[in-house]
Amino acid sequence: MKAKIISIANQKGGVGKTTTAINLAYSLATLGKKVLIIDIDPQANSTSGLGLDPSTCEYTIYDILLSRIQIKSAIVSSLFENLDLIPADINLVGAEIELINSISRETILKEHLESIRGHYEYIFMDCSPSLGLLTINSLTASDTVIIPVQCEYFALEGLGKLMNTIKIIQTRLNTNLNIEGILLTMFDTRLNLSNQVVSEISKHFNNLVFDTIIPRNIRLSESPSFGIPVMLHDPSSIGSKSYINLANEILKRAEVKV
Ligand SMILES: Nc1ncnc2c1ncn2[C@@H]1O[C@H](COP(=O)(O)OP(=O)(O)OP(=O)(O)O)[C@@H](O)[C@H]1O
Ligand SMILES: [Mg+2]
Repeated sequence: MKAKIISIANQKGGVGKTTTAINLAYSLATLGKKVLIIDIDPQANSTSGLGLDPSTCEYTIYDILLSRIQIKSAIVSSLFENLDLIPADINLVGAEIELINSISRETILKEHLESIRGHYEYIFMDCSPSLGLLTINSLTASDTVIIPVQCEYFALEGLGKLMNTIKIIQTRLNTNLNIEGILLTMFDTRLNLSNQVVSEISKHFNNLVFDTIIPRNIRLSESPSFGIPVMLHDPSSIGSKSYINLANEILKRAEVKV
């Protein structure tokens, strides 16, 4: 077993990164895969969305990045089978500045992950809405990146910059980095705009776009407040079904590649 490491990244805020991290990871876990989520965002939304209080976690990703502990010590079991978590908390806001003078500061996470890769099949990293050192660490440590894009007017804004950052990382820090896919999120069937965004993104990025499109669904936005994935909040909801479809799409693609 050697985990596929996937960053979920977009420096645009509120596009569905955390919602995707939690519900995609949980879907794969229910399909029998051993999955780890690493919360690498000071907002710690993946941590609280999985029912953990960030302020009570003994260790977080911050301790790992500052090389205070072994990565294994920060792993906690979630309440859900096959799903583990490395939490984040608000201390992580300071990490970028504290690491500024460290040697090979971009590869810290990559080095740490080597020791636990054998324990999982998928490792997802829920990035913060920035292209700073935390996201660079995540992309440098990853095999692929999932880019959630919200079906709204400014969807394409900033995507060029993200693609450029990915290219720079591919040349300088991680030649293996690939794009897993662009995930269209918060699609609203009632809006012409949503359809326009889908066709525009598909035109630009054609085969990079996942077939699965995540619709806007109230159940998806409610479930984090209960600290559970949407599948446990309302298994028959369209949000739940969509993320299970995405998990299956990712599994199928992986089979084709091999
Ligand atoms: N498909 C959806 N339908 C309805 N609400 C959604 C959907 N996806 C996400 N949301 C809601 O939109 C908000 C932003 O989503 P989320 O936190 O996943 O984005 P994010 O990219 O992680 O944000 P940030 O950049 O702040 O980390 C949240 O309140 C979330 O519950
Ligand atoms: Mg988030």
